[in-house]
Amino acid sequence: MTIDQKFIDQFVNVTSKAALASFYFIGKKDKVASDQAAVDSMRSELNKIDIKGQIVIGEGELDEAPMLYIGEEIGTKKGPEIDIAVDPLEGTNFAAFNLPGALSVIAIAEKNNLFKAPETYMEKISANVNEKEVIDLDYSIKKNIHNLSEYLNKKPEELTACILDRPRHNSIIKELKNLKVKLKLITDGDVSGALMVTDEKYKVDIFMGTGGGPEGVLAATALDAFNCAFQGRFLFDTEVDKIRAKKMGIKNLKKKYELNEIVSGDSIFCATGITTGDLLKGIEIKNNNFISETLVTHKSTKLKKIIRNEEKFK
Ligand code: FBP
Repeated sequence: MTIDQKFIDQFVNVTSKAALASFYFIGKKDKVASDQAAVDSMRSELNKIDIKGQIVIGEGELDEAPMLYIGEEIGTKKGPEIDIAVDPLEGTNFAAFNLPGALSVIAIAEKNNLFKAPETYMEKISANVNEKEVIDLDYSIKKNIHNLSEYLNKKPEELTACILDRPRHNSIIKELKNLKVKLKLITDGDVSGALMVTDEKYKVDIFMGTGGGPEGVLAATALDAFNCAFQGRFLFDTEVDKIRAKKMGIKNLKKKYELNEIVSGDSIFCATGITTGDLLKGIEIKNNNFISETLVTHKSTKLKKIIRNEEKFK
């Protein structure tokens, strides 16, 4: 079974509207308000679509989030059964401080084909390779760089690695510097970081490091459509994390997940720019219209493109 292409425009509309809603709160130093606006809009637009949807990655558990919580049923309940992962505002700091790179993101897959990721950190690695064993979370940084350098036929000093600039990454950063690999250090937004390996124009060869688990699943959906490599391993540091993981059915807490264990079957991914960043232009308001840019992928039709939409305010 595949997901009908008629849904593509509808999901592009969902992230575009959420991006617009959040855009009004850009630079207001209010992470909560910009996130809430995106959540409200996303939920209301999703509820207009003819699907029997269920949120598998959302704003948290029911006791933490009244909207778009994990397990919430969404859509008109008239269409196909699908799993939905959402990050209505990816990069709350970017939005609050009017910095580049805030996105509104959604990924959907056929029912039971999208990993139900807990709200915890995930070690991640991605690169534009479609052979096994070139990059691997279990390899040393040196081995990953050596293999990638051979695969891409580039010297290590011609490679660029994207990584979140966090103290927890100090040793990885040091190792990359020793290997003479160029760094692209990002302050937030690792969905975008992971996706920069998809096209040479972003000048990133490998993405690595630890960030949000839900963000890992979202990025993996698009990377799957681009035929790129991705692996993820959740990190359960606290007892609460461990209990929650077990409740979600995760038996082996140290498991390394391959891309096809995170997302399988057909999928659609949409990310709309809120503020202009590496990947996408942000929302633009012109006269009575708003202009948005959305990266959209649809696995079964091999669609991978950036769509620019101009729409009148209603
Ligand atoms: P928010 O939009 O929830 O603020 O997340 C931004 C982000 O940078 C993600 O892209 C990333 O996965 C995560 O935060 C990293 O977490 P931390 O800031 O704790 O290192």
